[in-house]
Amino acid sequence: MRLLLFGPPGVGKGTQAKLLANEFQIPHVSTGDLLRAAVAEGTDLGRKAKVIMDAGKLVPDDVMIGIVRDVLNSPKAKKGFILDGFPRTLNQARALTQIFGELGIRTYQVLNIEVDNEEIIQRLSSRLMCRNDGKIYNTETENVVAGSPCPDCGGVLYQRDDDKPETVRRRLEVYHTLTSPVLKYYEDLGVEHTVNGMDSVEDVNLNIKRILQSAEAQ
Ligand code: AP5
Ligand code: MG
Repeated sequence: MRLLLFGPPGVGKGTQAKLLANEFQIPHVSTGDLLRAAVAEGTDLGRKAKVIMDAGKLVPDDVMIGIVRDVLNSPKAKKGFILDGFPRTLNQARALTQIFGELGIRTYQVLNIEVDNEEIIQRLSSRLMCRNDGKIYNTETENVVAGSPCPDCGGVLYQRDDDKPETVRRRLEVYHTLTSPVLKYYEDLGVEHTVNGMDSVEDVNLNIKRILQSAEAQ
């Protein structure tokens, strides 16, 4: 299975990607998680990326395309993958089509998750992440608070620096200006499907699998 999870910040791409990666035993490739790992390691990329991410802007296309090219060329991506957060510009989408061509990948699906704006703001202001394994939580729906241990691995739960309200607003603007046009690109290729992200996590997961099954049957 090769799947691209698409949609604005906070719609649940990471949440769904982790579930599907576990169910289908394929890697979850989140460009945001890869950048946050580089920030945590203090690499040159991480130092540069942190400034951009904290401003709610996009890391340059050439850097992101290089990262994704390396991951998709690695042996672990041979049996399939779930891309989360890439592509985010038309340039990235065109580069991905070229990478797929080089790798002989002909079939893939794009899942666009749709959620109301107010719900996005609500979800991001109450999101917590585990510093150790990147698991995603929510203080509104789960019994967790910032600084407490991850129920799964004991790592510290924290709020992402880019989940501050002013940064969230900027990320949404960037999504609408630079990222949403990518949807049309995939509609034209006939691989785009939309799923209602307002449903529960479990129902969104079931609906994604239904969509994938019917796409496979065609
Ligand atoms: P990235 O980490 O990809 O952030 P994003 O796209 O803004 O998306 P989020 O991770 O914020 O949201 P999500 O959709 O994963 O939602 P989640 O599952 O966590 O990118 C961060 C930054 O890195 C970018 O701003 C940019 O600077 C840079 N970057 C990354 N990729 C790049 C690229 N390709 N090019 C250039 N720059 C790049 O869920 C959110 C919350 O909602 C959680 O609390 C969760 O528990 C809850 N939730 C999820 N689903 C449900 C549900 N169905 N019902 C109720 N609550 C739910
Ligand atoms: Mg995410």
